[in-house]
Amino acid sequence: MTSKNFKRYTITSALPYANGPLHIGHLAGCYIPSDIYVRFLRLLEKDVLYVCGSDEHGVAITIKARKEGKTPQEVVDFYHGLMKESFEKFGISFDHYSRTSAKIHHETAQGFFKDLYEKGEFLEQRNDQYFDEEAGQFLADRYIEGTCPKCGFEHAYGDQCEKCGSSLSPSDLINPRSKLSGRTPVLRETKHWFLDLARYQNFLKKWILEDHAADWKNNVLGQCRSWLEAGDGLQARSMTRDLDWGIQVPLQDAEGKVLYVWFDAPIGYISSTKEWAATHGKDWRPYWQSEDSKLVHFIGKDNIVFHCIIFPAILKTHGGYVLPDNVPANEFLNLEGEKISTSRNWAVWLHEYLEEFPGKEDVLRYVLTANAPETKDNDFSWKDFQARNNSELVAIYGNFLNRAVVLTHKYYEGKIPQKGELTGYDREVLETLADFPAKIAASVERYRFREALGIMMDLARLGNKYLADTEPWKMIKTDEVRTATIMNIALNIAANLAIVSEPFLPFTAQKLYDLFGMKNSKWNQAGQADLLHAGESIGQLGLLFEKIEDEVVENQVQKLLKAKKMNDAANLPVTPMKEIITYDDFAKLDMRVVTILAAEKMPKSKKLLKLKIDAGVGERTVLSGVSEHFEPEYLVGKQVVMLINLAPRKMMGIDSEGMILMAEDKDGKLKLLQPHEATASGSIIS
Ligand code: MF3
Ligand code: ZN
Repeated sequence: MTSKNFKRYTITSALPYANGPLHIGHLAGCYIPSDIYVRFLRLLEKDVLYVCGSDEHGVAITIKARKEGKTPQEVVDFYHGLMKESFEKFGISFDHYSRTSAKIHHETAQGFFKDLYEKGEFLEQRNDQYFDEEAGQFLADRYIEGTCPKCGFEHAYGDQCEKCGSSLSPSDLINPRSKLSGRTPVLRETKHWFLDLARYQNFLKKWILEDHAADWKNNVLGQCRSWLEAGDGLQARSMTRDLDWGIQVPLQDAEGKVLYVWFDAPIGYISSTKEWAATHGKDWRPYWQSEDSKLVHFIGKDNIVFHCIIFPAILKTHGGYVLPDNVPANEFLNLEGEKISTSRNWAVWLHEYLEEFPGKEDVLRYVLTANAPETKDNDFSWKDFQARNNSELVAIYGNFLNRAVVLTHKYYEGKIPQKGELTGYDREVLETLADFPAKIAASVERYRFREALGIMMDLARLGNKYLADTEPWKMIKTDEVRTATIMNIALNIAANLAIVSEPFLPFTAQKLYDLFGMKNSKWNQAGQADLLHAGESIGQLGLLFEKIEDEVVENQVQKLLKAKKMNDAANLPVTPMKEIITYDDFAKLDMRVVTILAAEKMPKSKKLLKLKIDAGVGERTVLSGVSEHFEPEYLVGKQVVMLINLAPRKMMGIDSEGMILMAEDKDGKLKLLQPHEATASGSIIS
C-alpha cells in the first residue's frame, strides 16, 4: 500500500457506452463500488472529485445505430439521457457526468494526440486491414468478429474478447467475419498511427508488477502480468481508425480517420474534470497533475488493459499527469447463471427496476454489494435478492431500527431518554461499537466493499442483540432507570449505524438522519456513544424495508424467461419465403378444422401414427409422421388444422386421406395448430 499522504482524490468510473440502457452488471461492476468509496471519502471530509460521462464514440455506437435505423447522434443522445437519469436515481453521486461528444472533450483528446505526435511517439504504418467489399468499409474493432486465439470463444471482437478479456487486433482472430455483411473480409492497405507499447514495457513492468504488487488486486495484477510477461512483449497498437463517427485525427493527411475510441474515452475523465471545473469555478489541474492527488479508476475486468497499460502509457508520454494509484477492477456479474447480455435482453435493466421497485434503490445497492464480483465472477438471482432483502435488510437492519424507534415513542413520547449508570455489558457493547468505523474504513480503503458491508450489518446485528439481551420491553415493568439507559444506548447504536451505512445505503441513511435530526454527519463522529442527546426528539420512522413476496420475484423470473423465448424466436434461422402465389392458387387448398377421434401407433413404424379424423365432411384416415412428438392418447379429442383435398397417398398399405398441418420450431419440435376455442368439425379455413 502506498503510504503517501494524499491531498485530494480523483475518482473515475468507466464511461459507459451510450448504446444501450444500464443494467445490474454495470452497477455491480464499477458504479456502486466507486460510489461507496467516494461517499466514504466525503464523510471523511476529503477533497474528492468523482467524474464519469457517456462514451459516445466507437463502433459500439455505430453498430447500434445501424441496427435501429437511426443516426449515431440520435442513439447517443437517447442513451446519454437515460443513463444519466438511472445513475441519479440510484444515488450514484458523480460530481460531474459528461459525454465524449462534448466540444471540450474533442479538443482535449485531439490535444493529447497532437502532443504525442509532435513528440514522435507514433509509428506511422501502412498495413493491410480487413475491408468489407460489400459494405465498402474498413472493419474496425467490433465490426469484425471471429474466434479468439486465446480461449476459443467464437464471437470475439476485433479489439477484444469479451469471454477471456484478452485485448486483440483483428488479425489475431481465427475465421474473421464482417458484422456488416457476414462475409469474410478482404485485406486492403490503409495508414494508421500506432502507439509503440514496447517502449513502455519496462516502465510498466516495474510500476505495476513491482511497485504495486502489494496493493493492486490479484485479478488485475494477473491480467497485467499476462500482458507484460508475454513472450513477444507488448505490441504496437493503432490509435486511429477508418470510420466516419468519432473525433477527427488532427493531422493534415488524415481524411476520414478518427481517433480510436480507447484513445479518446479515458481522456474523457480529464475532459469531464475540465467541464466540472469550468462550471464550478475550480481549477482542474491539481486533480490530474499534482503528485499529491490520488487517482483511482473503477472499472470492469474487460477494461483492465486499457486502464493499466494503454492509458498510463499515454499519460506518461504526455508527461505532467499522475498515474492511477489503483485500478480496482471487478470481475463480471452473471444473471441467474448466465452471462448478462444486452443484445439477448438477458439483463435486469435499471430503468425498469426503478419503475417496478420504486423506493427500493438501496435494496439493489445492498444486494449488488453483498454479492459483488470482487474477486471472481458472481451471480445475481432473484431468489438471492429476495432472501437478502427479507432476512438481512428487513429482519436485521429494519427490525433493529423499528424496535428502537417504536419503543422510544411508546415509553418516552419520542424523546431520547437519559442514560444512567452503565453495566459491564453496556460498556462491552459500547467498546465494540467504537471499533466499527475503523474496521469498516480499513476494508473500504482496500476496496473490499463486500467485507465492509458485512461489518456494517454486524453493527445492526449488535443493536439487535443488545435489545434482545437487555429486553427493555420487560425491564420497563420493573426498572425505569435501567430501561432509559438501554434505550439511550440502542438509539445511539442506531445513529452510528446511520453514518456507517451512508456509503452503502444512502437513501436509508438519509431517512435515519431525518429521523434523528442529524445534520452534516462525519465519519469521525461514528463510534461515539453520545451522538444523540437526552431530551432531543426523534421523528417517525417511515418504512425502511419491506418483505418481498414470492410472487414478486417469480414475476421477474418469468420476465426473464419470456425474454429468453423471444430471443430464441428471433434467432430462428430464417427460411426464405417461398415463391409468390396467386389467390387462385391459394383457393385451391381446402383446409378445415377437424377433430381427432382416435390415434394409434402404426405397427413397425417409428414415425407414423394412424389417426381417425372427423373432417365434418365424413370420417378420414390420415397417417401422420408425429409419433416421436405426441403420445396417441394425447391427440385424441384434439381439434387441429387439416388439408383435406390433398390427393390420397398409400403408405404401408393404407391410404392417407389428407394432411394434418403443424408448426415446426427451431429445435424441430412439432406444435399442433388449434382454434382458440371449440369449433365445429369441418369449419373452413380461409
Ligand atoms: N465504454 C467502455 C465500456 O463500456 C468503457 C470506457 S472507460 C474509459 O467498456 F476509460 F474509456 F472511459
Ligand atoms: Zn478469449
